[in-house]
Amino acid sequence: MSRFIAFASGKGGVGRTALTFNMGVAMSLFGEEVVMLDTDLVMANMDVITGLLNPEVTLHDVLIREKSIDDCVYEINQGVRVVPTGIHFETLKHINPNYISWNKIMNEVSDYGNVFLMDLPAGINSNIFEGLPEETELILVTNSTMASVADALKIRILFNELNIDIVGFVLNMWYDDKFLLSPTEIESILEVPLLGIVPYDREMERAMAMGRSIVELNPSSPTSNAVMQLAADMLGKPYRPIEPDKEGILRKLKKFVGI
Ligand SMILES: Nc1ncnc2c1ncn2[C@@H]1O[C@H](COP(=O)(O)OP(=O)(O)O)[C@@H](O)[C@H]1O
Ligand SMILES: [Mg+2]
Repeated sequence: MSRFIAFASGKGGVGRTALTFNMGVAMSLFGEEVVMLDTDLVMANMDVITGLLNPEVTLHDVLIREKSIDDCVYEINQGVRVVPTGIHFETLKHINPNYISWNKIMNEVSDYGNVFLMDLPAGINSNIFEGLPEETELILVTNSTMASVADALKIRILFNELNIDIVGFVLNMWYDDKFLLSPTEIESILEVPLLGIVPYDREMERAMAMGRSIVELNPSSPTSNAVMQLAADMLGKPYRPIEPDKEGILRKLKKFVGI
């Protein structure tokens, strides 16, 4: 049975796209056939993040009926597939977001995998929420700042009004600071379960600049282990964190100092 998992956030910049991408790679490492969809028609960035620079055909071309969805499913690393959205404002002018049949798009893309991860646009855009498959598992992404939690709360209230269930939230870019909200405080504000905590990690920025996932680049890092654990939990699979190769580092050090 296919799974549809959508990542939403109130605020932009909380790492929703980064998380979608890394979860996609993580889930494919667990053997799933993953398709990631960029549903942000205006501020698309899945193409850049996944290293697919300037793809020839995008969801924009499908929406203006020039191409079919089969023309814009791209395979990237780890066999993960991506359906990118265009960045050309010219094409965007011809698309009326109120008339997009997301149901149809999801139907057409369903042949390409068994886990579908959707990177939703930040903020409130009920058109897309109404068009999601009924069984979509919705996950909120937030940081620990007041502003991002407040916006996550707004979107949580909107989902309630639309009768859309939220599976829980992921706290991204976490670090311990007394001026930030704690995971338990955020959980009690949002009133949905905390699914995972992904630490703040500058490697994430580097990985993204290379169009690679942190899960592949630095598998023993706390960030990668957190993403893998979240993927395992969502898939109901076991995962043992990968320890850093301390012996390897020690061997190199010894060689370096000549002992
Ligand atoms: N856990 C993290 N630690 C550090 N930086 C992160 C983390 N997650 C994402 N980022 C960085 O934050 C920036 C915004 O991420 P992005 O995924 O584009 O946000 P959004 O899609 O929510 O707007 C990117 O430059 C990304 O590299
Ligand atoms: Mg984004």
